Amino acid sequence: MSYQINIEGEQMRERKILLSEKDIPRKWYNVIPDMPNPPAPPLHPGTKQPIGPEDLAPLFPMPLIEQEVSQESYIDIPEEVLDVLTLWRPSPLYRAYNLEAALKTPAKIFYKYEGVSPAGSHKPNTAVPQAYYNKISGTKRISSETGAGQWGSSLALACSHFGLECTVYMVKVSYEQKPYRRSMMHTWGAEIFPSPSAKTKAGQQILAADPDSTGSLGIAISEAVEDAATHDDTKYALGSVLNHVLLHQSIIGQEVKKQLEMVGETPNVLIGSCGGGSNFAGLAFPFLPEKNNGADIRMVAVEPAACPTLTRGKFTYDFGDAVGMTPLVQMYTLGAGFVPPGIHAGGLRYHGDSPLVSQLYQDKVIEAQAYHQVEVFDAAATFAKAEGIIPAPESAHAIKGAIEEAKRATEEGKEKTIVFNLSGHGHFDMAAYDDYFSGKLQDYTLPDDLLEKSISTIPPV
Ligand SMILES: Cc1ncc(COP(=O)(O)O)c(C=O)c1O
Repeated sequence: MSYQINIEGEQMRERKILLSEKDIPRKWYNVIPDMPNPPAPPLHPGTKQPIGPEDLAPLFPMPLIEQEVSQESYIDIPEEVLDVLTLWRPSPLYRAYNLEAALKTPAKIFYKYEGVSPAGSHKPNTAVPQAYYNKISGTKRISSETGAGQWGSSLALACSHFGLECTVYMVKVSYEQKPYRRSMMHTWGAEIFPSPSAKTKAGQQILAADPDSTGSLGIAISEAVEDAATHDDTKYALGSVLNHVLLHQSIIGQEVKKQLEMVGETPNVLIGSCGGGSNFAGLAFPFLPEKNNGADIRMVAVEPAACPTLTRGKFTYDFGDAVGMTPLVQMYTLGAGFVPPGIHAGGLRYHGDSPLVSQLYQDKVIEAQAYHQVEVFDAAATFAKAEGIIPAPESAHAIKGAIEEAKRATEEGKEKTIVFNLSGHGHFDMAAYDDYFSGKLQDYTLPDDLLEKSISTIPPV
């Protein structure tokens, strides 16, 4: 069914599988009821006892807290949210014919392109509902962190849409590497501080210990959480990791399901890059009911070898931020104080991972792979030459994963169907490409002793 007949009666290949706006999913899919083991409850950072909704109320509006703990399989998407999402959704699913030819593989490769959003990635899928629920709950300002700038720009976009103020703490190394991401956030009306900043106590504490700190997502989260916790009119928003964020991203996989059905395909491998886990989960989780019913589907999360949370981290309770202000969650972690090297996939430089992704990895429902950044950029360049789109360095990890799967299919002579999430474009990451093409890009392997040292700082519960 992946062919159409053109007016001359010849077979025509269909590259883009497109849904109409009326086919946009109207509910989010919640994976928790389909997991073999539910995630462990988050613990209060002080008492180490399970937290209740009231503990989260200073940071999040109640509708999002309800979604965070929901046991419902499906949750309605409000019309006001759908109205904004249709600015770019449904997003296209592409059959990567050129990449298949370049790789000489019998595998069929599809990619879901989330770079069509105004901010250029999947992040607005959750920024929009988060801003909406804050707006209807009376919030005036949202504070957040950003790594590569994708999340910060998505939140700035969503806040401008719903008339909210937006403050973003941007990891310093990215603040310097990606000036145009800052310009985007300014365009949508946000204020931005390089993190660690002197604006918060958490930032001051980090700067006192290391004035040259290049920052990390963990540090920026501490700053944004402190900002929200110390201002009554302000709430905090997180761009990944939390259950409600993964819920919002399920729109991706639900669209992919419909799109694959349109061409009579079912996936054998679903692949996403993994920072906090939201784009991977968004693509893969909606297929878990089929996998539970025996369908031959593997789910692969791809992370950087320089920040190998799933592949080398420890599954335990840890803080989500560097300073220890957030609840303790059970997840794969490298230690909350871990500061990854300044690799170019800034959105993948996080010490922890989503508790849902972590639990499913622990239960061997999903798999993980880690790759070095030079081989990831090799994959990005191969993809850009074949398919045209220049991927974000984060997304290029999924491409590398897909290329490896396709090579395996060639070796095994198998015609498997590979689907990956192209979570964003790389138009603001060209400095990274310059470094790659001029041979300046360095690989980094995390030494065992450094890893053990960082893991040993995780507090006992
Ligand atoms: C384009 C892109 N892909 C992937 C990620 C990783 O985040 P997550 O694992 O939550 O999808 C990011 C994070 O900033 C990103 O900007």
